[in-house]
Amino acid sequence: MEKRDLPVAVFDSGVGGISVLRELVRLMPQENYYYFGDSIHAPYGTKKPEEIRRLTLENTAHMEAKGMKALVVACNTATSTAIAALREKYTDIPVVGIEPAVKPAVMEKEHPKVLVMATPMTVQAAKFRNLMERFENRAAVIPLGCPGLMEFVEAGKLEGPEVEAYLQKLLSPYCSGDLDAVVLGCTHYPFLRRAIAKVLGDGPHILDGSEGTARELKRRLTEMDLMTGRREKGQVIFEESIPEKIELCHFLLNCK
Ligand code: DGL
Repeated sequence: MEKRDLPVAVFDSGVGGISVLRELVRLMPQENYYYFGDSIHAPYGTKKPEEIRRLTLENTAHMEAKGMKALVVACNTATSTAIAALREKYTDIPVVGIEPAVKPAVMEKEHPKVLVMATPMTVQAAKFRNLMERFENRAAVIPLGCPGLMEFVEAGKLEGPEVEAYLQKLLSPYCSGDLDAVVLGCTHYPFLRRAIAKVLGDGPHILDGSEGTARELKRRLTEMDLMTGRREKGQVIFEESIPEKIELCHFLLNCK
């Protein structure tokens, strides 16, 4: 098979990366995608960096064995700890990660107040600290680790009293109305966007990095002449370390 007809591999610690996958499919529907979610080891965001790196390298090696022309790390946590190791290993294909969309949030107005919701690991990582430093003179960026939040998405609970009670408790210190933007810095959180918006009220603009990641992959595939020549819609194949989650994967891919 020609390299450009191989699938784009999309990896996450669980089902959250499907928020990135759906943007990829929207932007490049002719491509084939192979999504792997490692729900059995989720959450990654409360693990040690060495363990996150090990799991990410093991799982992506498994994906490579099946064939891939590009790798999308659709997980902020895995990107912040393992992207350098992955780029060192896979030198002949595009390796695209995701990071919290702080830049577009900061650009929206003069000295905005921006809340970044992410996993505890992401907000502690040096990569994120560097990102914050880059913008410290232009915005008030507040990192908020959200242990326990991705679990709602893993359980397929995107709305309802339990989710709202959790968010109310977590977000009440930021509900005074002076927040300009909220960055969803974990790929699970876009599935909770409605519930988050309900708790925060109309004020802040809610952003995530999935569209930017999809555009970056398109740019890299084009640059390396790896876009498929196929005209018809491609296929999406899911694999999960908890096989019972496949149904949830399809539901999330189609959920608005
Ligand atoms: N979806 C992942 C992220 O973007 C992390 C969730 C987790 O495993 O803790 O950070």
